[in-house]
Amino acid sequence: MARLYRDRHDGDVRVVVLTGAGISAESGLRTFRDSDGLWEGYSVDEVATPEGFAQNPELVQAFYDERRAQLGIVEPNAAHKALARLESVLGDDFLLVTQNVDDLHERAGSKRVLHMHGELQSAWCTACGRRMRWTGSLVDEPACPSCGARALRPDIVWFGEMPYGMDEIDRSLRRVHTFVSIGTSGNVYPAAGFSAFARAVGAHTVELNLEPSLGIDDFLEHHHGPAGTIVPAWVDRYLEKQELR
Ligand code: OAD
Repeated sequence: MARLYRDRHDGDVRVVVLTGAGISAESGLRTFRDSDGLWEGYSVDEVATPEGFAQNPELVQAFYDERRAQLGIVEPNAAHKALARLESVLGDDFLLVTQNVDDLHERAGSKRVLHMHGELQSAWCTACGRRMRWTGSLVDEPACPSCGARALRPDIVWFGEMPYGMDEIDRSLRRVHTFVSIGTSGNVYPAAGFSAFARAVGAHTVELNLEPSLGIDDFLEHHHGPAGTIVPAWVDRYLEKQELR
């Protein structure tokens, strides 16, 4: 039986948080697999694979252009802000891994954010390999500011591609005390496997989600409800328990 909180050693990470689309739902961004989710109106194969992009780049660029533009009209919610507060107390003892490609964690004040599925506000030139901040549209094939080629694609990790930051995530999960999964359905690997891994190394595992996810059995503690309510409440309890408030 895993212990709730392990003795602390140098190099340990007290808290690793994994977030998914559910944390941004109350900010007005659609999730993928809920009843009104993005994958109801679009085919994953068409807009979230390298093959789909090769076949119809205009459709794919328009899909991500629309989502990038939406960032201008949404704001971080109480759940994003609570995680920024947790980080401000824990500092380097904290890592936020997100599957989300929005920038709401950063806008709430989070600094140690690892976007394992890429970012809407980043473009990747497939000619020169440079990645750059990009807030405008890509559908009209603008030239790469670095090499001039018209070869920019969204810097999004599509199905069949390698997520970012896996070495750092792996290192952190091996030394984590408390792993918290927020607003993710547990459908997409490798992220869906982090809870089982964290539990196997003896971490306390927590799920904060609207409903039980596919990985529910991997969690020692769970709270179900809207992230804007249950995440701030969990952060308060955690900080109180650790006497860190
Ligand atoms: P999903 O759409 O699969 O799951 C969202 C989860 O959030 C569901 O379990 C919902 O119950 C929950 N949820 C919805 N509203 C919520 C709320 N207000 N508060 C708390 N939870 C809420 O999204 P992800 O698990 O993030 O990848 O999807 C993982 C990946 O699949 C995405 O990063 C994306 C997608 O295909 C790529 O595109 C590569």
